[in-house]
Amino acid sequence: MTLGNVEKEFTAAKYQQDELHIEQTALSKIADAVGTPAYVYSKSYLTDQYNLLSEALSSTPHQIHYSVKANSNLAILALFKSLGAGFDIVSAGELSRVLAVGGDPKSVIFSGVGKSVEEINFALKAGIGCFNVESRGELLRIMAQAELLGCVANVAIRVNPNVDAKTHPYIATGLKENKFGVTKEEAFALYLLAADNPAINLTGIDCHIGSQINEPEPLLQALTSILELRDALEKEGISLQHIDLGGGFGVRYQDETPLDINDWGASVGQILGGRDLQLRIEPGRFLTANAGVLLTRVEYLKIADEPDHKNFAVVDAAMNDLLRPSLYQAWHGVLPVDKSSNAQPLEWDIVGPICESGDFLAKQRSLALAEKDLVAVLSIGAYGSVLASNYNTRGRAPEVLVDGAEFKVVRRRETIQDQLRLELKLELDQAGH
Ligand code: LLP
Repeated sequence: MTLGNVEKEFTAAKYQQDELHIEQTALSKIADAVGTPAYVYSKSYLTDQYNLLSEALSSTPHQIHYSVKANSNLAILALFKSLGAGFDIVSAGELSRVLAVGGDPKSVIFSGVGKSVEEINFALKAGIGCFNVESRGELLRIMAQAELLGCVANVAIRVNPNVDAKTHPYIATGLKENKFGVTKEEAFALYLLAADNPAINLTGIDCHIGSQINEPEPLLQALTSILELRDALEKEGISLQHIDLGGGFGVRYQDETPLDINDWGASVGQILGGRDLQLRIEPGRFLTANAGVLLTRVEYLKIADEPDHKNFAVVDAAMNDLLRPSLYQAWHGVLPVDKSSNAQPLEWDIVGPICESGDFLAKQRSLALAEKDLVAVLSIGAYGSVLASNYNTRGRAPEVLVDGAEFKVVRRRETIQDQLRLELKLELDQAGH
């Protein structure tokens, strides 16, 4: 069935009679309790996605490292930890989050092109499982810091296999024009350089070619490519224990046919062909995107007064709450929370209160809307709350985790005091001194 241009089955949001629910909780009940806008996530959907991925790889020794950047709420990290996940991080801040939920530092992989000395030291002292090294300079820096601290750093080199992930250019990372990783040739040289260094323990090879990948071929090509390097290193006497394929597994937003994760898992098993290697992956979006909705309320309806003008539904969520449409022209489904409305269906641009024409959540959606109606913007569990900002001095929206007929506020709404307390109000005279 389609409604507001979107089929409902792929998302955690489902109608019971005319009321949109997450699990057994009506979204209207959450809006009454916490107000709008609010991010709402389904615990069972998150759990099911994790289990789906793990089962797809059941014939291959593997470890899932949840990519914290997709949704770093502590409750979500705690949930994935309880399911057996390790973590993929890109900053000291994300490592602090993992440690805050009692995550095992050894289960942590540290990716990213710009690790500072402070971040490297913090991660070394915490005893993280692996650094995914993205440049010669970073390798030398980690060597030096590990020597200084008298410890050994576990390292994988991130290879840029020059594979086209066929995704949005802002989220493609595996082409030679991208800033990530090093070429295979450079990686080979770096492995030789680090092989005899007592401060470095070479444990694996890493790659990550992009995000929202819906075709298996680029992922499999990348795997084959880094396996060649692994085999070449083996001949040099450098023996590695893991292959890290990164994340990037696509999901459905609109009418995409997402990657068939079971087929992909089976192909990966075949390519690895009984090698004594652990497979690591760093999924973010696949686990969280469709577990969440952004709940928002219509403030005003601006109906076109001329035939070639647009109709605008101004809602109380904005680009500071969900940046993806403005930044990537991303398409997110929009559903009315109560679909029994007798309002006349019209084509709406769903826009926020921010003073930018780029502030829109969805365009040209046919919906029956009235002022004060609640609507749910779908597929926002990944790269939704984490990309939020305080633009226009808007407080960040709360996050709610639903578990059956119950729900918990897992991040409270940010108040104006939360924002102002970080700043200094200068006391100045009339001359500005
Ligand atoms: N590992 C590395 C090294 C990454 O850079 C990323 C994502 C992931 C894993 C997780 O990728 P995923 O499984 O979620 O596709 N803000 C963009 C997505 C940026 C992705 C950045 N890196 C968006 O909203 O589409």
